Parts: sequence; structure tokens; C-alpha cells
Amino acid sequence: MSKKVCILGLGYIGLPTAALLANQGYQVLGVDISPEVVDTVNNGNIHIIEPELDAYVAKAVAGKVLKAGLKAEAADVFILAVPTPFHDGHIPNVDYVVDAARSISSVVKAGDMVILESTSPVGTTEKVESVLREAGTDTSSIYIAHCPERVLPGHIMRELVENDRIVGGLTKESGEKVADFYRTFVSGEVLVTDARTAEMAKLTENSFRDVNIAFANELSILSDKFNIDVWELIRLANRHPRVNILQPGTGVGGHCIAVDPWFIVHAGGDDARIIKVAREINDYKTEWVTERILEDVYAFRDKHGREPSIGCMGLAFKPNIDDLRESPALEVFQSLVAKGVNALAVEPNLKKHKSIVLNDYHDVSKSADIIVYLVAHNEFKSLPVQCKVLDFCGVTVSK
Ligand SMILES: NC(=O)c1ccc[n+]([C@@H]2O[C@H](COP(=O)([O-])OP(=O)(O)OC[C@H]3O[C@@H](n4cnc5c(N)ncnc54)[C@H](O)[C@@H]3O)[C@@H](O)[C@H]2O)c1
Repeated sequence: MSKKVCILGLGYIGLPTAALLANQGYQVLGVDISPEVVDTVNNGNIHIIEPELDAYVAKAVAGKVLKAGLKAEAADVFILAVPTPFHDGHIPNVDYVVDAARSISSVVKAGDMVILESTSPVGTTEKVESVLREAGTDTSSIYIAHCPERVLPGHIMRELVENDRIVGGLTKESGEKVADFYRTFVSGEVLVTDARTAEMAKLTENSFRDVNIAFANELSILSDKFNIDVWELIRLANRHPRVNILQPGTGVGGHCIAVDPWFIVHAGGDDARIIKVAREINDYKTEWVTERILEDVYAFRDKHGREPSIGCMGLAFKPNIDDLRESPALEVFQSLVAKGVNALAVEPNLKKHKSIVLNDYHDVSKSADIIVYLVAHNEFKSLPVQCKVLDFCGVTVSK
């Protein structure tokens, strides 16, 4: 069994992976370009919110099986878990992957494994190989593969072990060798394919979700136009034995589903039609929600001769979390504020925010002139509300 693992990038994916492997008998070096992250980990602490992770890191650091550093060192296995965002215009940015690959080129040696875990455009694993080769590494004796990550934040420590994994080798031998490494700590099935298929599989999973949510979001817009209750419509249509429509919402957020489909669209061009339109529909839904709220604001103003207060219930990108990254609910709130609307922000999962005043949801439910449900947090489901309600995420459906 390979013993020493070097993980590049100690974020939501890299740090839990490092901590898990360290607790599974590997000697782990976690590398990050952020000195604060390195110091935090070396002190046995964590800089991200994830249940159980603190205990894993504290134990591994105390047991001297996990340490962090700013530079990669010799190891048997290298895992790249760095960000893959996009540039303006939805152009994939693999600069972090290229930098990370370059940073290991002086220490990687024959027989090592190099694994790309970052969600990546098709062809990125080949790029890792070419970066290493151009830096003078003999890649013919290195096992290079892509192993995409599909964990759910909030359940990462369990899902790292239990989820099935796809390993896409640059060669068949690389795929098999890297799969054997994952089988030492994964209880789910480890499925081997080639690198391009593995890259596309991860992008496909997130695009599948995006396309299906777009269908529900389009139905919600059409239902509003046709004066139909979309929740009842979907509930009834789903009674068909082979129909399973998802629920509409304020849009699609987070750093995966709202981002990864663009990697396919960028490379696929005019052939990535449904994936592109789905992205556009889900982005449009957020604008539509804002416009829909403004209609009611103007109607209130005309009727009562004053500005209404709008209780914006939820800012996170999905229910029952505190994560605001790429959040459509946050975008709606900010658009309303930018239009001069008296919008009251409510986010029960956050204690405070650096620039937004957060209000108590009980208070707002009593004081607001109009309540708009933007995220279906559990707290809102049994909340008594007397005023006008616009429900964009199904909070009132189970009442
Ligand atoms: N977070 C998730 O739930 C999730 C799920 C599946 C896949 N992914 C994918 O995993 C990858 C990593 O995501 P994340 O959420 O962990 O990102 P993150 O932003 O939380 O962490 C990335 C870390 O990498 C560090 N870094 C950047 N360049 C580096 C370099 N050259 N060398 C060493 N460290 C470097 C950053 O300082 C940061 O600490 C992305 O491709 C993402 O799409 C994330």
C-alpha cells in the first residue's frame, strides 16, 4: 500500500480528504498557497464549516499523520483538489490546476500516482500530463488519473467513504492502479474508465440536475402566466408512473451546478444546446423572481400610497445551509435593494453578515407588508404569516 500522500488545495474537498486519509493509515502532507490555511491546519484547527471534520483534523495533527505546508514534497500519491472556476464570459479557468501540477513536477517520481480531483473541463487530465512532461518529468512511468468528487457539503466525511467513485485513467494501467488506491478507503464501488469520460461524467451529473431544475423553473413561469398553482401541477403530473419533475425555486446557485455546465457549453458550442438553455433559464428565473416581486411592490404602492416592506425569507443557495455562494436568493435581495425597495433580509442559518443587516424571521413575519419566500428553510414552514405571500420555493405547500 502506498503510504505518503500529498494533497494540493486544503478547501472543502482537499482538507476532508487529507484528514480522512491521515486517519486511514496514510502519512499526509496538505499543501495550500494560503499561509493562514496552513497555520490553521497545523494548529489542529479547521477554516471551513463541515460536521466532524474538526475532530478528524485535530486527531490526525496530534497523531503527527497530517501536516500542512506551502510546498509539495515527495510522496507516493499526489491529489490535486484546487479550484476550477470560470473567467468572465463563462470560460473555464484551469490555471489553479496548471499551477498545482507545475508545483509537484520537481518532486514527482517514477511509480507515483497523480490524481486530479477538481471538477474539470474535458481534457484537463491530459493537460496535467503535458504540464508535468513540459516541466521535464518522465510521465511514462507515472500513473495519472481523474477522480471527480461528488460529496454533499454537510455530509462530506461520510460520503467520502460511502459514495461510488469514478476513476478515469490516462492509461488503463493508471486507472486500475488509482482505483486500487481509492478502494483502500472507499466502501462504495470504484468504477474505472478513461480520463475524458470521467471528466464528462462529473459535468454530466451536474448538468442533469441543472436541466431538470430548469424544466421545473420554466413550468413555474408558465404557470404564473396561466394562473395555475405550479406546486399542484407538479404534484399531479408526478402521479404518472414515469414522470418525476423536480421542484422549482428562485434559480440555481452554489459553486457546482451553476458553474460546471458552462464547461460543457464552452467546449461543445452549438452542440450543447439543451445544457446552455437550461443554464439560461435558471439564471433568468432569478431575474423573473425579482420582476415578479417588483410588480407586487408597485401594486402595493399604488393601493396604499406608501412603500411596502418586503420580508426576503432566506439568502442561502439552498435550504438549511448558511452558504451564500452564487446564491439566487441573495441576488434577488440585492436587486431589490438596488431598486430602492425596502427589503428586509432574513437568513436564520447565519448569525451575522459583513454588509447585510439580518433580521429575525419571527419579527419580519409579523412586521412585513409582503413576505417573499426565496429559500425553503425548515424554520419558515410552520411560521404563521398574515400578510401577502409570494412563495417561490414551495415553503407554503406542505402547510
Ligand atoms: N466543495 C464541494 O462541495 C465540491 C464538490 C465536488 C467537487 N468540487 C470541486 O473540487 C475542487 C475544489 O473545490 P473546493 O470547494 O475544495 O475549493 P476551495 O476553494 O474550498 O479550496 C481550494 C483550496 O485550494 C487552494 N489552492 C489554490 N491554488 C493552489 C495551488 N496551486 N496549490 C495548493 N493549493 C492551492 C486554495 O487556497 C484553497 O484553499 C473544485 O474543482 C470544485 O469544483 C467541490
